[in-house]
Amino acid sequence: MSDLKTELAAALPRLHKAVFSQPTEGAEYAKATVRPLRLKDRALFQLEAIRDNKAFHFNLDESGLLALADETLIGRYRQVLLTDDGGARQFVLRRDGSYRKSGASAVPLPGGGPAAAHDREKRRLLAEGENIPALVDLGVFTEDLHIVKAKYDKYRQIDRFLRLIDDAFASVEPGPLTVLDFGCGKSYLTFILYYYFAVRRGFDVEMIGYDLKPDVVERCNAIAGKYGYEKLRFLVADVSKDRLYDKDFDLLVTLHACDTATDYALDFALRHHAKYIFSVPCCQHEINASIRRGGDLDLLLGHGILKERSSALLTDAIRAAVLEDMGYEVDLLEFIDFAHSPKNLMIRAVKKNPPRGKKIPLCRALAGRYGFTQTLLELCAAYEPDRG
Ligand SMILES: C[S@@+](CC[C@H](N)C(=O)[O-])C[C@H]1O[C@@H](n2cnc3c(N)ncnc32)[C@H](O)[C@@H]1O
Repeated sequence: MSDLKTELAAALPRLHKAVFSQPTEGAEYAKATVRPLRLKDRALFQLEAIRDNKAFHFNLDESGLLALADETLIGRYRQVLLTDDGGARQFVLRRDGSYRKSGASAVPLPGGGPAAAHDREKRRLLAEGENIPALVDLGVFTEDLHIVKAKYDKYRQIDRFLRLIDDAFASVEPGPLTVLDFGCGKSYLTFILYYYFAVRRGFDVEMIGYDLKPDVVERCNAIAGKYGYEKLRFLVADVSKDRLYDKDFDLLVTLHACDTATDYALDFALRHHAKYIFSVPCCQHEINASIRRGGDLDLLLGHGILKERSSALLTDAIRAAVLEDMGYEVDLLEFIDFAHSPKNLMIRAVKKNPPRGKKIPLCRALAGRYGFTQTLLELCAAYEPDRG
């Protein structure tokens, strides 16, 4: 057993990652990274190997990983970085094929020392320093895997989104899963979610991101191609009127899809029986533009800032009410603290019950009285449940 294999074997129970870089001529891949993986309650390891700018993934148990490392990795990469609960250790290949532990070893991890397994899982979701493909291409991480300062708020948003998704899916057995992202834009979230479901969790995930902008769609498709993400694609579409995915799907995500684009997304999810909805709305202008005085709530309409905020809250209250009437269990969560983004509310909905139809009529009465329009409230007339 080589020294490095012994070190690797000892690190596995508390492993964060092992990175094999700077390939020699005998190496099959440009780079290989090993991370722990939870799959159907089995503790496995995932080897991600990069060749010709494509990522290949192999899920292995401990002995399979050690055998593969011995045959194809150890001695073929000039540099190896092992990171576990105790910190990071660097190994450099000697001419005789053995490894020397480099001087700059034992870099303690932030909050280092043994951590509870649960905390480790949480920290791994989107940890700075972890080589998550696409985050560098998207400009969120620098080449040496630090967060780009200007992207810190975006990083916090997608990490938080991912944690909420992980809370909902941690106990879901991996299987086929279709995910649609409406108004995906530069698609930071879309890529991370694809990575989470397909690579980390082993779901057979098909994912589509829709956006109006052809240039961002083209770029996102190029990045998906680069990593061999065959079931992740991006399409140019106006979600308010274009023909979209024509089958039922499982999970809708929206992150700051502008104004009523969120309503069209929610409507699409309702029509296509999506079980899970995670939606962070933004710029809820519609009610603010149409609401007028009509009764007890007039006090909220006398000042521009109050009117704007009340209209935004009313918009999301109506969206939640429609989802509840359609049989979803709905939570409205603070998505990110106000200091980081004023667009900080998430609608999280999981389909649990049959439609029941109690709140939509109340919303309609309110809309009539105050003269406002709300797109989801109008769209849901096509499938709104009986009031009985
Ligand atoms: C604020 S950006 C958010 C992008 C991304 N979800 C994120 O959080 O980084 C809103 C995106 O929604 C897209 N969008 C707005 N209305 C749309 C519509 N009707 N159909 C498709 N995309 C739309 C815009 O082009 C834009 O890229």
